[in-house]
Amino acid sequence: MKRLGILTSGGDAPGMNAAIRAAVRTATRLGVGMVGYLDGYCGLVRGAFVELDDRAVGNIIQRGGTILGTSRCPEFFDPEVRAQAANQMKLDGVDGLIVIGGDGSFRGALALQDECGVAVAGLPGTIDNDVWGTEESIGFDTAVNTALLAIDQLRDTGESTGMMFFVEVMGRTSGAIALHTAVAGGAAGVVVPEAHAEIGLVIERIRETMAKGKRSHIIVVAEGDEAGGAFGVAPIIGKALDRPYRVVVLGHTQRGGRPTMRDRLVASEGGAMAVEALVAGRTGVMIGRQGGRSVEVNLRDVVNNGHPPVNAGLLRLAQQLSG
Ligand code: ADP
Ligand code: F6P
Repeated sequence: MKRLGILTSGGDAPGMNAAIRAAVRTATRLGVGMVGYLDGYCGLVRGAFVELDDRAVGNIIQRGGTILGTSRCPEFFDPEVRAQAANQMKLDGVDGLIVIGGDGSFRGALALQDECGVAVAGLPGTIDNDVWGTEESIGFDTAVNTALLAIDQLRDTGESTGMMFFVEVMGRTSGAIALHTAVAGGAAGVVVPEAHAEIGLVIERIRETMAKGKRSHIIVVAEGDEAGGAFGVAPIIGKALDRPYRVVVLGHTQRGGRPTMRDRLVASEGGAMAVEALVAGRTGVMIGRQGGRSVEVNLRDVVNNGHPPVNAGLLRLAQQLSG
C-alpha cells in the first residue's frame, strides 16, 4: 500500500472529522500517503480529491460535519459507474479505500471490492446507530446529547405551563436515537418505528401519571414511526387525553455540533484501525465497537445482517420509568 483514499458518504455525523484525522495521521506514521475524495462516491467517480497530510487535518477534531463533504450518490448503484471509479482510483495511484458511512455506503464499498478488486475498509458513521456489528456508530452519542439538551429546556417550560410536548428526533427506520433520548431524558413516553401499539401504552401511562398529579409530559417520537412522526402521533394522544400540546421537530440540529468525547474517541480508534487493517492486507472489514472495545468485523456480515433489532430492554425501561 502506497496511497489510500478516504471518503464520507450518506448523512454527515459529528466525529467524522476526528476519524479522518486519525486515519491520515496513522497513514503518515506507516509511511502511506492519503487522499480525501470529495462529496462521497460522487468525488470518487470524478477523481475529485484533496491530498491529506498531517497538517491538512489539524484543528478539525472538534468540528462537526465532514471537511470532505458528503452526499447520497445514486449513480454509484450502477456497476459501470463503479468500474469507472475503480479505474479512476488506479489513475490516482490509490490502492485502497476507507468509507465512513452507514450500511448503504458499505454496500457500495463491498460492490467495489467484489467487482473491481479494490481493497476497502468501513467505519460506521451515522447518527442513527443502525449498523449491525457495532454497539455505537460515530455521531450517535453527540446526536442523543443534542436531543437531550432540547428536552431539558422543554422541561422548564413544560413544568411552568403544564404543556405536553411531542419531540420528534431523527431516525427514518431506526428508533435508537428516540429510545436513548427518552430514557436519558426521563420522557413520559416513546414511539419508535420498530415497535407497534406503543401509542395506546403511552396514553395509558400518561393518564395514570396525571391522576398522581404529574403536570407536564414529554413524549419522544422517532421521525419514521408508522403514525407519521410527531405531527402524526400528537393529535391522537392529545385528543385521547383532551390536552393541549406542542410539537417540536429537532431535525438536522442533531446532525451538527461539536462531537462529544465518546464520538471523538470511537472515531479516533476506528480511523487508526481502519488504516492498520488495510496496510496489513486485511480488506472487507469494518471497525466496530463490541464489549466497549474497537474490533474488526466482517463487512459482508454487516450488510447481510441488515439493521440491528430495537433494544427491547431499553424500550421496557422507558415505559417502566415514566411515573
Ligand atoms: P448510509 O450509508 O448512511 O446508509 P445511504 O443508504 O443513503 O446512506 O447510502 C449512501 C450512498 O452509498 C448512496 O447514495 C450510494 O452512493 C451508496 N450506496 C448505497 N447502497 C448501495 C448499493 N447497494 N450499491 C452501490 N452503492 C450504494
Ligand atoms: O443520516 C441519517 C439521517 O440523519 C436520518 O436520521 C434521517 O432520516 C436522514 O438522515 C435525513 O437525511 P436527509 O438530510 O438526506 O433528508
